[in-house]
Amino acid sequence: MQHPGFRFAGIGSYLPDEIVTNDDLAANMDTSDQWIRERTGIGQRHVGGSTSSLAAEAASRAMKRANVSPADIDQLLLATTSPDYICPGTAPAVAEILGLDCGALDIQAACSGWVYGLVMANGLLLQGMKRVLVVGAEALDQITDYTDRNTGILFGNGAGAAVVEADPTGESELLGWDMGADGKYVSILYAEHGDVLKMDGKEVFRQAVTAMQRSASNALEMAGLDVDDIDLVIPHQANVRIVEAAWKRIGFTMEKTGMRLEETGNTSAASIPLVLDKMLDDGRIREGNTVMFLGFGAGMTWATAIVRYAGERS
Ligand code: UT7
Repeated sequence: MQHPGFRFAGIGSYLPDEIVTNDDLAANMDTSDQWIRERTGIGQRHVGGSTSSLAAEAASRAMKRANVSPADIDQLLLATTSPDYICPGTAPAVAEILGLDCGALDIQAACSGWVYGLVMANGLLLQGMKRVLVVGAEALDQITDYTDRNTGILFGNGAGAAVVEADPTGESELLGWDMGADGKYVSILYAEHGDVLKMDGKEVFRQAVTAMQRSASNALEMAGLDVDDIDLVIPHQANVRIVEAAWKRIGFTMEKTGMRLEETGNTSAASIPLVLDKMLDDGRIREGNTVMFLGFGAGMTWATAIVRYAGERS
């Protein structure tokens, strides 16, 4: 039997309207717009909405772009670290809003979750499914203390989604991938039940750079590609200094890099598809481009996917 391929049929994203600027934060804590911009690259973040409502909006945009109806979706994978409830998962609520009639489950791999979802979707296509909806959505304002300058400067809300479908020709856009986790680092970024995020920022920074380098290298090896073969790279949007430090080791340039951090802050599992959607809108990703998605986050977890984009919008 010929293996089905993997292709992006449609991408969509959504940011809630309400914006909190760095100056807004500086009114409630000892920080400044200048410090936040220089040390992180963040200028503002969006807040408001629930994870299920943000996810459903991004997903319906992706389905529209893919020109598919709810009946065409065989599985919903929702990556989130800020679910509506501890139990049940948020994916069934999203499926209900969208009118899906299929399996629906959450992936909790923090900021790496959407890239984990892509790789898992590929597995489901190999099992015979035709289309999988992979969403990353976060209402991080629910678990962020916006008076704590250690964490409150970083996080915001948003959602991004992709419809991925089996390509009967067997041509696959997914060229290589890597997923990993190291539970030794649970305590450097966590939220207890009913509480807000706590973080050892310096240690997260250090571990993120190491994880990105290792994961990119593993995925490149699987794809049989070199750093120079990657046309564009979309890293998890956490801190521009983390990206610059990792790129020094890996060999990527900022010119090749998709960034939306200034506008969104850190939206965890939503950050990579939010950038992907914007780059497609801006015409920065073109048919045939080789694109790397590179995520890392609490856990620690990390995940990389390398895709050759076959084209979804003109
Ligand atoms: O998805 C993963 C999520 N988490 C992350 O990616 C976090 C990764 N870590 C980071 O992004 C950075 O470590 C932070 C942005 C959290 C902090 O930046 P930093 O460059 O590591 O700052 P620092 O903790 O070394 O602090 C430097 C100085 C200190 O003052 P002194 O001791 O030099 O006088 C801090 O007290 O900056 C001070 N400081 C601040 N000043 C104004 C720390 N936070 C702030 C702040 N505003 N928000």
